[in-house]
Amino acid sequence: MSEKNPYKYNGDTLVINEETNSNATKSVYIESYGCAMNFSDTEIVASILSENGYKTSNDMYEADLILVNTCSIREKAELTVRKRLQKFNKVRKVNGNLKVGVLGCMAERLKHKFLEEEKIVDMVVGPDAYKDLPNLLQEIEDGRSAVNVILSKDETYGDITPTRINSNGINAFISITRGCDNMCTFCVVPFTRGRERSRDPQSIIEELNDLNSKGYREITLLGQNVDSYLWYGGGLKKDYSKASEIQKASSINFAKLLEMCALTQPKIRIRFSTSNPQDMSLDVIKIMAKYENICNYIHLPVQSGSNSILKAMNRQHTREEYITLIENIYKIIPDCSISHDMISGFPNESEEDHKDTLSLMEKVKYSFGYMFKYSERPGTPAAKKLDDNIDEIIKSKRLSEIVELQQKHSLYRSKQFIGKTVEVLIEKESKKSNLNWAGRNQQNTTVVFPKKNYKIGDFVNVKINDCTSATLVGLATGYSKNN
Ligand code: 5AD
Ligand code: SF4
Repeated sequence: MSEKNPYKYNGDTLVINEETNSNATKSVYIESYGCAMNFSDTEIVASILSENGYKTSNDMYEADLILVNTCSIREKAELTVRKRLQKFNKVRKVNGNLKVGVLGCMAERLKHKFLEEEKIVDMVVGPDAYKDLPNLLQEIEDGRSAVNVILSKDETYGDITPTRINSNGINAFISITRGCDNMCTFCVVPFTRGRERSRDPQSIIEELNDLNSKGYREITLLGQNVDSYLWYGGGLKKDYSKASEIQKASSINFAKLLEMCALTQPKIRIRFSTSNPQDMSLDVIKIMAKYENICNYIHLPVQSGSNSILKAMNRQHTREEYITLIENIYKIIPDCSISHDMISGFPNESEEDHKDTLSLMEKVKYSFGYMFKYSERPGTPAAKKLDDNIDEIIKSKRLSEIVELQQKHSLYRSKQFIGKTVEVLIEKESKKSNLNWAGRNQQNTTVVFPKKNYKIGDFVNVKINDCTSATLVGLATGYSKNN
């Protein structure tokens, strides 16, 4: 009775690698949902558990402990987790000693309520409390339930080397900031992940060097708001004004950190996510242009093209400021690709507001987009102050129009590559044919081409001769100079 771990991230299924620890006496099965940050956190959790006698397993029926790292961003994400808990209930019927813990944003949001609402749950652990896992596990071993949802002012897990359980050995995440101070009115993240803090750059560089020595070829610097990165010796971003003059003078911002990473490992490709328009500086864009190993791709969520909706969302920028930023990006990096997050049906969104979103998209012609219907999240400023008054049918209709327009633009952007040669990092076999490799170019578009003698982890030049809206098709012409 074995069920593969359904790790999901951006549509890809990542199967957990069984990790062997010769001192392990117990096994843990972990599932992650939601954003890349959660997947990155799961690797921290796996590392902490490995130090405490657990090996990871991909068979939930054989595990002593099941952990589920949860997401609260939309109601649907929470419903998915609740369904999984029902499944774990069935596993417990077979294995009476099984313990179940919930981690992440839903744990933080629901706290003790989780224990009452879902009888299967033994342990509830918020995103800043993973170092307490050994104690919490002892509690549940002793037959008590355990909860730690304390948010921290300085926890960044900078001193923990993640166990890369969901990795292909080529791409890895390095988390650089935690939390978010932006308080977009629709968003539950500031409540589940706390205030913004940055990780010591020294530990980031050490992690980068470690990944390089293990053969990794591409890293993504991760945070809810990476451009807001600011290291001044530790502490919350909001307390920077209280820092000493010496601390301020030696502080490191995101542009500087990006440059340090690019220079330290010039053969490693560097990506970063997520950027917030109001925090993205021209310095960052210039550093991207200066270093070949920083990918020309920016994920720049905007959420709406209407100024009145942006205001109601408490986004700290106008449509015009956003467009100026986009123009600057294209001016400094003409072949940069840009993607967005968009929400349809925010409270009071009129047909006019929706048209503004479509016209903004028409102007930018994004390469990709992540598009969602507004989902009211309990406790957020929007839930408290605004009526979720857009009919579901209208939300869906607007979302389909946004998705359809995005597909048109993705195809438009893909076609621009036809006849050009792009550098691709080979990541895996193509899903459609085992004769082809799949990888991504700098702009984050998937490229598929015949394997020849190349192997996973190679950087190759591929001449593009065909495309769909999501994939470029071509022929490899040789190793790229970065290989
Ligand atoms: N409803 C719908 N989408 C949301 N997002 C965040 N909160 C909500 C919500 N309440 C989307 C935003 C964000 C992405 C991670 O999820 O577009 O950028
Ligand atoms: Fe949420 Fe806004 Fe922060 Fe993104 S920037 S995590 S949408 S509050």
